[in-house]
Amino acid sequence: MKPIRSRGVIRGYTVAIVCAALLSLGDRVGHAAEPEIKKYEGNCTKAGCHEEYTKRPVVHSPVETGTCDACHETVPGAEHKFKLTSTGAALCTECHEAEKFQGKVVHGPVVQGQCVACHDPHGGKAKGLLTTDTVAALCSECHDKTLDGLAFVHGPAAIGQCTACHQPHASKHPKLLLAAERELCTECHTDIRDRTAERKHVHPPVESSCLSCHKPHGAANKMMLSATAPELCLDCHDTIAGRLETAKCKHSPVTAERACLTCHDAHASEAAGLVIGPSSMQLCLSCHNKEIKTPRGTLLNIAAHLEGNSHHHGPIQSGDCTACHNPHGGEQAALLSREYPSRFYSAFKPDGYKLCFECHDAASFESLETDTDTEFRNGTRNLHYVHVNKPFKGRTCRACHDPHASRNPKHIVERVPFGNWNIPLNFQLTPTGGSCQPGCHKPYGYDREQPVVNVTVP
Ligand code: HEC
Ligand code: HEC
Ligand code: HEC
Ligand code: HEC
Ligand code: HEC
Ligand code: HEC
Ligand code: HEC
Ligand code: HEC
Ligand code: HEC
Ligand code: HEC
Ligand code: HEC
Ligand code: HEC
Ligand code: HEC
Repeated sequence: MKPIRSRGVIRGYTVAIVCAALLSLGDRVGHAAEPEIKKYEGNCTKAGCHEEYTKRPVVHSPVETGTCDACHETVPGAEHKFKLTSTGAALCTECHEAEKFQGKVVHGPVVQGQCVACHDPHGGKAKGLLTTDTVAALCSECHDKTLDGLAFVHGPAAIGQCTACHQPHASKHPKLLLAAERELCTECHTDIRDRTAERKHVHPPVESSCLSCHKPHGAANKMMLSATAPELCLDCHDTIAGRLETAKCKHSPVTAERACLTCHDAHASEAAGLVIGPSSMQLCLSCHNKEIKTPRGTLLNIAAHLEGNSHHHGPIQSGDCTACHNPHGGEQAALLSREYPSRFYSAFKPDGYKLCFECHDAASFESLETDTDTEFRNGTRNLHYVHVNKPFKGRTCRACHDPHASRNPKHIVERVPFGNWNIPLNFQLTPTGGSCQPGCHKPYGYDREQPVVNVTVP
């Protein structure tokens, strides 16, 4: 910032301007060739001396009426001095209400009584007796760096409307703002105000300060953002920042072009979690409505899978893909939020199935004999235990269940994924048991009331 211009010295003092009004004799410098002595008519401007003051674009009312003595005292003698009746702001507050220039926050030059740093007491170039042609030019005399080097400048600042947001004299708000910061912004940005009022979920920083993300004058980034996503967001969301760094399984939209803003609305949303669109499941399905090729293989078209298979798993019925997946990435394969074996066979340990056991009882897999823990039993022989609970080649849940949806009850898969071969399962449920005829063994049945005698035991 430049130092405040000193207007302490009245320009023209030393030039012996002789005004008939004050001395009743003498001539104007520069008019020496004209011998005619102007007669004082009770007005310095009419005397032909200071007429210039009344020809300015905006003339101060007391000057217009020739009331020079409202501010100047007559100095007797040969010295033609326009001595001021008082100094600083006091001169002005003689007529202008002093309260206007007081407040919690008072502008630097006003504190110093430098009214004339911005106003010409006689007549100015622009409305408000300004010493400059525009408000912006005035402000930039002292604040010449405000818009420097900003690639994206805010609309009102770009057209020099500094006073659309700032009081020139004093304010009860910090930084001389016209209103509390958020109110100031939403008075113009009524769409943001309406959206945050109407939508169910509002991002907490939007409630407190728009400036936690935006710069008021302009910034190096679009939308005057102080940084771009994801950095903007990760500054506050450091747990997610940590996860992005360490995640073994990453989800590319999190860091791709629009990053966090691909899925989140920065201000407010209808859906929980500030998710864009009506729900987080709709969001997931807006991309997972096609097969997606990845270096590790082609991902299933989940939307089509759900449409073609009417038995939807509980969490999917309630629209909650994030019950099992972490959209930001994580330690488990397939972005799973908790442990789940990633292969067809796995040694059984309850901790390996935290994903399923978060909602289902692990007891279903823990003892060979039971008459309550699971419906998947032949008499009291627990077939979950038989298939899953093995020290080496325990079959994982995917051998029989589809985590998303299936045509069969109990989310039993149509086909068992076995290497490149998908073995048809031909599952049939009966009121007291069921049967299957897979490619891995002969047809088997189970019945909880009348145990089936199968040819061999798996
Ligand atoms: C509202 C108060 C006010 C009124 C009314 C006023 N002046 Fe001034 N005048 C000032 C102030 C303040 C200064 C000192 C300006 C500065 O410091 O830049 C000044 C300075 C001057 C100067 C010195 C040169 C200059 O322009 O800075 C002259 C000459 C002058 N006034 C003449 C007049 C005349 C003639 C009238 C009546 C037509 C008049 N003034 C009315 C406040 C006033
Ligand atoms: C930093 C520059 C600046 C300083 C210093 C300043 N003003 Fe102003 N003043 C302005 C601007 C800008 C306006 C608004 C002009 C417009 O209408 O766009 C204004 C408007 C005014 C107005 C007319 C509008 C209103 O608010 O009633 C008066 C009277 C006024 N100022 C008096 C003063 C007095 C008295 C002082 C010293 C105590 C002072 N100003 C100091 C910039 C300043
Ligand atoms: C003798 C009384 C008087 C004094 C002293 C006085 N003013 Fe004024 N000023 C007025 C009047 C009267 C108006 C016109 C008010 C109106 O239009 O509402 C006015 C208007 C203004 C305006 C608004 C001009 C416009 O047209 O936008 C500004 C700015 C202003 N004065 C600044 C000052 C400053 C700065 C001082 C001190 C250097 C000062 N005044 C001293 C009487 C005075
Ligand atoms: C004559 C010089 C001068 C002019 C002209 C000027 N300012 Fe200032 N401004 C200052 C000074 C001095 C400060 C106090 C700086 C500080 O405290 O660091 C300041 C501070 C500010 C502040 C910060 C206030 C705070 O509470 O921190 C804002 C906002 C501001 N000015 C806006 C403006 C606007 C808008 C204009 C044009 C209408 C303007 N200034 C014109 C000298 C000026
Ligand atoms: C859209 C509203 C708006 C406009 C227009 C605007 N400002 Fe500001 N200005 C602000 C806000 C809000 C702050 C407070 C920033 C903060 O607290 O971090 C501010 C702060 C300032 C400050 C204090 C120092 C700083 O940068 O924090 C100065 C000086 C300033 N503005 C000058 C100007 C000037 C000069 C203009 C015109 C070119 C202008 N402003 C236009 C809203 C605005
Ligand atoms: C005086 C009215 C006004 C105020 C106050 C105001 N703005 Fe603006 N803002 C505008 C205008 C006008 C535009 C340009 C509109 C456009 O390009 O669509 C704009 C543009 C923006 C943009 C960029 C929009 C885009 O599509 O590029 C953002 C972000 C913004 N303002 C944020 C803010 C914030 C934050 C505040 C409070 C510090 C604020 N505005 C205060 C008038 C205002
Ligand atoms: C948590 C950060 C954050 C906060 C807080 C925030 N914004 Fe934004 N804002 C953004 C981001 C990010 C964008 C860009 C959105 C995009 O590209 O889709 C944006 C865009 C905008 C836009 C232009 C696009 C639009 O949606 O109309 C305006 C205007 C805007 N913000 C105003 C505001 C206002 C006013 C506030 C305070 C009430 C505010 N913002 C608070 C991050 C934020
Ligand atoms: C100034 C700090 C700040 C910034 C910047 C910020 N946030 Fe937030 N955000 C918060 C706070 C505080 C909460 C509420 C507490 C929490 O959930 O951590 C929150 C909550 C959230 C929530 C959860 C909302 C809910 O209802 O569960 C999401 C999603 C979110 N932020 C996304 C973002 C995105 C995307 C960005 C970048 C555009 C971002 N945040 C930038 C502070 C911030
Ligand atoms: C692929 C879409 C997607 C992307 C990209 C994404 N999120 Fe999320 N995010 C979600 C979903 C879905 C939720 C859970 C919403 C719910 O149901 O509560 C969520 C929840 C959150 C939450 C609140 C819960 C928590 O985990 O703390 C925050 C904060 C959050 N996201 C921030 C971010 C940030 C920061 C980024 C960018 C680095 C980002 N998100 C990128 C989809 C996404
Ligand atoms: C913007 C598009 C987009 C959205 C929205 C989206 N995804 Fe993805 N998702 C992808 C892409 C592309 C891949 C392929 C792998 C990669 O690029 O990270 C993928 C991969 C996956 C994977 C497999 C990861 C692996 O490595 O095996 C899962 C699981 C997944 N997404 C779940 C979700 C969930 C749950 C949601 C909603 C919260 C969601 N996705 C939202 C684009 C999206
Ligand atoms: C009950 C937990 C659960 C829920 C809820 C769930 N998933 Fe999954 N998802 C899984 C499991 C487990 C896998 C890994 C399947 C495997 O490896 O056999 C998976 C795999 C995926 C894959 C990768 C598919 C492939 O071909 O490798 C995508 C994409 C996916 N899920 C998206 C979604 C979407 C979208 C939703 C919401 C509509 C959703 N998931 C809901 C558990 C779930
Ligand atoms: C977020 C909780 C949750 C998680 C995690 C979860 N499930 Fe479920 N599961 C449910 C709900 C709720 C039902 C529906 C229960 C009902 O309709 O009685 C259900 C139903 C089932 C059913 C059908 C039960 C029946 O009686 O129709 C099977 C099979 C199943 N889940 C397997 C799994 C497997 C395998 C996993 C791990 C990959 C898993 N679930 C993870 C909540 C969950
Ligand atoms: C060999 C095939 C097979 C495997 C492997 C398997 N299940 Fe099942 N599961 C079934 C059958 C068949 C039923 C239906 C029982 C009935 O209702 O007749 C069932 C039923 C269920 C039910 C409903 C409640 C119950 O126990 O009756 C849940 C929950 C369940 N399984 C979860 C799992 C989980 C979790 C895993 C992996 C840890 C798993 N299943 C592994 C075949 C299997």
